[in-house]
Amino acid sequence: MTDFLSELHRRRTFAIVAHPDAGKTTLTEKLLLFGGAIQTAGAVKSNKIKRSTVSDFMEIERQRGISVSTSVMGFEYRNLQINILDTPGHEDFAEDTYRTLTAVDSAIVVVDVANGVEKQTEKLTKVCRMRDTPIIFFVNKMDREGKDAFDLLDEIEQKLSVKVTPLSWPIGMGQRFRGVYNLYEKKLVLFRAHGKQEDEDIIVFEDLSNPELEKHIGETAARELRNEVEVVETVYPAFKAEDYQNGTVCPVFFGSAVNNFGVKEMLDCFVEIAPTPLPRHTEERLVRPEEQKMTGFVFKIFANMDPKHRDRIAFFRICSGKFERNTNYRHIRLGRDVKFPAPTMFMASKKTILEEAYPGDVVGLYDSGNFKIGDTLTEGELLHFRGIPAFSPEQFRYVENADPLKTKQFVKGLEQLMDEGVAQMFTRQSDGRRIVGTVGQLQFEVIQHRLESEYGAKCRYEPVNLHKACWVHATDQKALDEFLDRRKRDIARDNDDNLVFLAETAWILQTVQENFPGIEFRFTSE
Ligand code: G4P
Repeated sequence: MTDFLSELHRRRTFAIVAHPDAGKTTLTEKLLLFGGAIQTAGAVKSNKIKRSTVSDFMEIERQRGISVSTSVMGFEYRNLQINILDTPGHEDFAEDTYRTLTAVDSAIVVVDVANGVEKQTEKLTKVCRMRDTPIIFFVNKMDREGKDAFDLLDEIEQKLSVKVTPLSWPIGMGQRFRGVYNLYEKKLVLFRAHGKQEDEDIIVFEDLSNPELEKHIGETAARELRNEVEVVETVYPAFKAEDYQNGTVCPVFFGSAVNNFGVKEMLDCFVEIAPTPLPRHTEERLVRPEEQKMTGFVFKIFANMDPKHRDRIAFFRICSGKFERNTNYRHIRLGRDVKFPAPTMFMASKKTILEEAYPGDVVGLYDSGNFKIGDTLTEGELLHFRGIPAFSPEQFRYVENADPLKTKQFVKGLEQLMDEGVAQMFTRQSDGRRIVGTVGQLQFEVIQHRLESEYGAKCRYEPVNLHKACWVHATDQKALDEFLDRRKRDIARDNDDNLVFLAETAWILQTVQENFPGIEFRFTSE
């Protein structure tokens, strides 16, 4: 038991999220270098999809290949097991990122000092906030000119509705960037471009009024730093680990990932303050990681990486107990036992078959089509993990079978792609037509391409005039029946058979909400 608890307390599972180009891949790589999980720079491939003149499909396949191998990057650092969960770079795959965020215990948000808070920074931080996930901000590219640090912190607080407290403070920026003052450990860390951060660059500096400061960074920078730190100490709250852990205050670090600067500061602080595996809510009760019985859920599926074998890998987050190879676990949705002879652990580019895994770990389970996103495994107890939301999609098209001889393949392919979470499908009750809903344009291409290459089926899209699809709930059965009857034409079922209202325009949605006060219209499936 003590072994189990000490293994559990060694786990730190988090995601790095950012608007594309802020430096997520670079930062991930530097963290892996510190952890010794990779030896050379360039080993972590960007999973960005670059819309280019070369075939997008090639890009999509390339990205899928990278995404499998980088889904979880584990390494040891200071006797802790660190698991970084990767998130897709392209905003059309944002939903995949939202789901990954349900499987972490904390997040690092990378912000480009010149661009500040961008669209994806806003969306992703909002998803973290929904679950009070503790966040650390890393302000990147300090070697370039960018926004004033105080202005940037104001922008983060205002646009993201969070409270921040800087744990390091930049000394200049761009050409004048001299380093950071680590407020957390009271150390001066001097910047050397493209260097490894060496011990002699770090100077313990308890008291900034010490005239030695001028020797290291010059008079002007020393004066500025003293003034700014004085302001920082009066404006921002003193850092308390509990405030960060319960999601009320977000520490901020400044650095330059490509120069490997400021990264170690953040990592060293992260391992001290980041939460160990957190309890998780199920429909039935709260599951604590210390519980002896194994529980967990699937948050991501990759299918058919090798089209010759219908193989899939389901990524499974362990929430409590010890997971063991070749042991029967109850697949709650299917109501039967399943076991896994070759569960896989990913350590950066290497993968190994594991004998056991602990809460916070993510294991890859090979599967022949039994899993859907959100599925729960337990030792028998009837539990359903919450928090794997489907978001109301933003783009819609009718999807039609374009090859009548391949109907079976078409139906099966669509079904499996939906299980994987590539998009959502709604079947309109009045005419049985299928409507695919996505968050981005790219998914339509992905579906068409993968149906053809993996299932030998062809699909055709037709435009559909839709503004939103929202899930319908009502406690009053009579009110629900009346609503369903009156709006027959606009009612659909999602893939899990839930009732969905298809609103053609924002105006219709608003009118319907006013006319049917007994009906609740939800924009996530939770
Ligand atoms: P992403 O995963 O968030 O999309 O970003 P990524 O790490 O791929 O970084 C985007 C670009 O920003 C890369 O340049 C990268 O080298 C650069 N970058 C990352 N950190 C820093 C930094 O601290 N300072 C500066 N000046 N640049 C940084 P690229 O030209 O797109 O690619 P590459 O050819 O350099 O790899």
